[in-house]
Amino acid sequence: MTLAGRDLVSINDFSNAEIEAVLDLADEMNLALKEKKVLDLCRGKELYTVFYEPSTRTRSSFETAMHRLGGNVVSHAEAQVTSSVAKGETISDTVRVLEKFADIIVMRHHLDGSTRLAAEYCDVPVISGGDGAHEHPTQTLVDLYTIGKEKGGIKGKNIALCGDLRHGRTVHSLAIALARFGAQVTCIAPNGFGLPDHIHDAIRAYKGKITEYRSLEEIVGEGSLAVQHQKGFTNLLLESIDVFYFTRLQRERLSSDDSNNASEESYRINRQLLEKSREDAIIMHPLPRTNELAYEVDKDKRAAYFRQAGYGVPVRMALIALLLGAVEPKLEPNPKKDAVKLAKDVSDARCSNDRCVTNAERYAVRKFYRVPGKAQLLRCYYCDWPLKN
Ligand code: NCD
Repeated sequence: MTLAGRDLVSINDFSNAEIEAVLDLADEMNLALKEKKVLDLCRGKELYTVFYEPSTRTRSSFETAMHRLGGNVVSHAEAQVTSSVAKGETISDTVRVLEKFADIIVMRHHLDGSTRLAAEYCDVPVISGGDGAHEHPTQTLVDLYTIGKEKGGIKGKNIALCGDLRHGRTVHSLAIALARFGAQVTCIAPNGFGLPDHIHDAIRAYKGKITEYRSLEEIVGEGSLAVQHQKGFTNLLLESIDVFYFTRLQRERLSSDDSNNASEESYRINRQLLEKSREDAIIMHPLPRTNELAYEVDKDKRAAYFRQAGYGVPVRMALIALLLGAVEPKLEPNPKKDAVKLAKDVSDARCSNDRCVTNAERYAVRKFYRVPGKAQLLRCYYCDWPLKN
């Protein structure tokens, strides 16, 4: 089994065994980096990064990864200004041209489903560096790698996702992956900022366990599950959390109503909260941070977010090497994965998501799939939002 030529635009594009193959190879890459070995696996290959949204970690870690593999990089930062998109060029035309030069393309775009559309028009592998508020699958690979490294595994761990879970794309891919790998997911998000329905559907499909709270106060405050313990008061729920994963308010994606209700106060982590948490818990954050993560937390050994960012390079090295066929994974032949069943006669229908790529790129053929167990519900193949009635 090979991963050569595959795209990664949703975490569900890879099976658990394929994800594990990336993480195992990332460990080898990590070791090679530590030993300052020069790797020549991708010599003569071209990686294009095409970013229509700002980025610090994702783009630079992809580019560094390709350099470390001995390959070349062409970088389109601020592609919305510097590429022909500024002249009205579509996503499909952009990638059909770039595939003539590139061996592999990493794209970040502000529209949900945009990277899926790009992959459909492109013959070389497309990796998503984030598509709007939809998904961020490579951040999830980095997050899974971090949890594995720091906590020794994912199965059975209780992972608390805190913050703007509605508009943050990293937590969407991550919540699905955690359910698939048997973790328990605890969500802490203010009213109106919880995980979207399609992520709940996906978690349910994998029989994942999920519990939701509106604020950290509900967990640690008066009236929460505090119990008397020999050491004094402890808190059952807080004690059960292995990983806190914080995210910022995605202000650039909030409606004016959401902006009025938005505040980080209900899920801010500071020293007091840290003192009440487990000694072996870790704090993760995809970064950038805003007000939800106090700087005083940085000094604590449980603060794992800069180590997490550092793992971006070995993980992305592994992914690039596998998709370019420079390394072949040890994978059993995959029993054919169930193809998504697309609904017929709905190409005139519209996706209800204003940010969906199918509502912006007019040539895009609209496709919808049926949600198992919810016969009446059709979801957009590109962004997973429901069809507009
Ligand atoms: C995230 C993103 O772009 O979605 N950043 C990242 O890639 N590490 C998170 C964010 O912007 O809040």
